[in-house]
Amino acid sequence: MIKNKKILVIGAGGFIGGHLVNRLLKNGNFITAADIKPKEYWFQDFDNVNNHYSLDMKEIENCRKVTKNIDYVFNMACNMGGMGFIENNKAECMQSVLINTNLLISCRENKIEKYFFSSSACAYNTRKQKNVFIEGLKEEDAYPADPEDGYGWEKLFSERMCRHFMEDYNIPVRIARYHNIYGPYGTFDGGREKAPAALCRKVIKAKKNNENKIEVWGDGKQTRTFLYIDDCIEGTLRLFESNYSEPVNIGSDEQVSINQMIEIIENISGTKKLERVYQLDKPKGVRGRSSNNDLVKKILNWSFKIQLKDGLKKTYNWIDTEINKQGSNISRFTKS
Ligand code: GDD
Repeated sequence: MIKNKKILVIGAGGFIGGHLVNRLLKNGNFITAADIKPKEYWFQDFDNVNNHYSLDMKEIENCRKVTKNIDYVFNMACNMGGMGFIENNKAECMQSVLINTNLLISCRENKIEKYFFSSSACAYNTRKQKNVFIEGLKEEDAYPADPEDGYGWEKLFSERMCRHFMEDYNIPVRIARYHNIYGPYGTFDGGREKAPAALCRKVIKAKKNNENKIEVWGDGKQTRTFLYIDDCIEGTLRLFESNYSEPVNIGSDEQVSINQMIEIIENISGTKKLERVYQLDKPKGVRGRSSNNDLVKKILNWSFKIQLKDGLKKTYNWIDTEINKQGSNISRFTKS
């Protein structure tokens, strides 16, 4: 595993970025952590990073400043969220091309050794995701291009920008396509939360308030594969150290419907079965999505370890504790 390197993590104040910094620190690296958010809103606190910056990486001068004297760069930053955010903020999402582009230009100028880009399953052709149960998406299914509007186009364009920087300027790049990553220290309310955290929160609140129903976006039959954060970080670091420079799925094999995930969460909570109030006018995204993991198994000899029921249990318990702590205060995990 990577050791004694000077590593810049952009998006260190966010969910995946925060977990990545923790892991890289444990391995004995020197970390520069940057995020657009002011420090008090970062999802995790780090005392032992070498430098903290609260800067907007859409500005190239900021990218130039933070990439000086750095070996590796992990770009985990973009304006994102679950379906409730990305379906309603397409222009905002697309502006993240500036982060990746300006970072790559600065990495070239400052002679960075290797670059990581966090892409997404939203880069896949939406026409291949129209049925509830689909074959897992293979890496080649991103083309011909027809990704999710806004956010998906940003990811696909930025993947390509990475590829061309590697081809034209010899900057080694590694690109992961993440499939709905969930776990503790992520947003669970306020508009940016994804389905696992949102549904844990809804079940927790129903239980606390003695209510017998929860609201569910769509008809609950839509499917996804969800990946627990620890597996995501492990896969990311293994991919980073590999020789493979094309985009690779980082996801699980457990395709479930939203209804099935709610049942798992109800079992964790020990509550009685809640009535589902299906909200068909809410953002739904694609009908069915799952990750084909043949490539990652082949090139990294690695596969996800944490079953959905186990990852959801940890997530549920963490959100429950946060809600109890929070009382009437707005927490950093609920700001939209
Ligand atoms: N967010 C949310 N909140 N989704 C809900 C809820 C709810 O209360 N109830 C049901 N859903 C349904 C959504 O309608 C959608 O069909 C499904 O759960 C999954 O929603 P999200 O988790 O919000 O998003 P996604 O899986 O479509 O996309 C997410 O993962 C991608 C990577 O796989 C997003 O975060 C994307 O930004 C990301 O790229």
